[in-house]
Amino acid sequence: MRIGVLTGGGDAPGLNAAIRAVARRAFERGIQVTGVKNGWAGLLQAGDLDELTPASVRGILPLGGTILGTSRTNPLKEKGGVEQSLALLRGNGIDGLVAIGGDDTLSVAAAMSEAGYPVVGVPKTIDNDLSATEFCIGFDTAVGVVVEALDRLHTTASAHHRVMVVEVMGRDTGWVAMVGGLAGGADMILIPEFPLRLGEVEQHLHRRRGEGKDFSIIVVAEGVKMQSGDGTGSGPAAQPEKRDAFGHVQLARQGVGDALSTQIEELTGFETRVTVLGHLQRGGSPSPIDRIWATRVGVAATDLLAENKAGLIPVRQNGEVAIVPLREVIRETRRVPESLFRLQRIFG
Ligand code: F6P
Repeated sequence: MRIGVLTGGGDAPGLNAAIRAVARRAFERGIQVTGVKNGWAGLLQAGDLDELTPASVRGILPLGGTILGTSRTNPLKEKGGVEQSLALLRGNGIDGLVAIGGDDTLSVAAAMSEAGYPVVGVPKTIDNDLSATEFCIGFDTAVGVVVEALDRLHTTASAHHRVMVVEVMGRDTGWVAMVGGLAGGADMILIPEFPLRLGEVEQHLHRRRGEGKDFSIIVVAEGVKMQSGDGTGSGPAAQPEKRDAFGHVQLARQGVGDALSTQIEELTGFETRVTVLGHLQRGGSPSPIDRIWATRVGVAATDLLAENKAGLIPVRQNGEVAIVPLREVIRETRRVPESLFRLQRIFG
């Protein structure tokens, strides 16, 4: 038996740990492994495949990025893209595929599975927004980066008595902002799930000053659409939209953090600075939690294919590995619950 493995979408710390787990389990079971380069792009045109060996997956557990490369290529958008990919897999004697990715990559995996080819998934995204799983590879490390940044920003904010606005990733959800902000002691966390008006931000900052707190840290998720003070406007985000192959707006270009800090300074007169954490959140070595879970779900994914089970994905439910249909994790975007939003408000 031979299986393929690919990583698609934005990279995340822990991808190499997952590739290693898929491959090591396969070698242990006498299965050969082909690495598909650069996500779904490696299955289009002439293809871009690489034999994985015990040597090629050695020493990669602590490495960020992905040894296979990744891309946001979408075969569902290419004419005959799925058929071409399946022909390439079959033509290279690949009996099944492990697709490591978030909702975009896994939506292609589900389509291939429904077209009759054995595909299993592995959940990855720093955004942590897949449904049916408590864990996505990369989230824990990204949260760690936010926490370290907030610890550092606290000292400089306090020294200058400033407002610091920190823009974090997360696409249309506020998981990275909420969990990172809670752990890093942010005074206010703005997330797409619970929109706040600029007037509320202004009031909050004045209240803190009134209480003798002469600096503030505000975490804002990149996907936030702020409303104007009277609730009528569409908010400060300013730049024109640019979309990727899956139709997602490139939110970093919207510049919500920058626009928010300008508005805060105008409304309050408090000196304000912005830090956009950007791709720092995706770089570097994975945390122990990301390494361990990438290992557990990677091994489970190989086991599924080895046992001729497909159209499935190992996830974490109640702290354990559970197996659910691929469609289940992309059924809806998992959003931050109100309980966490309310919890954070206590610490403003
Ligand atoms: O989905 C992961 C993510 O990091 C989002 O949080 C962010 O909006 C997007 O990818 C950025 O994508 P790119 O790396 O293509 O700029």
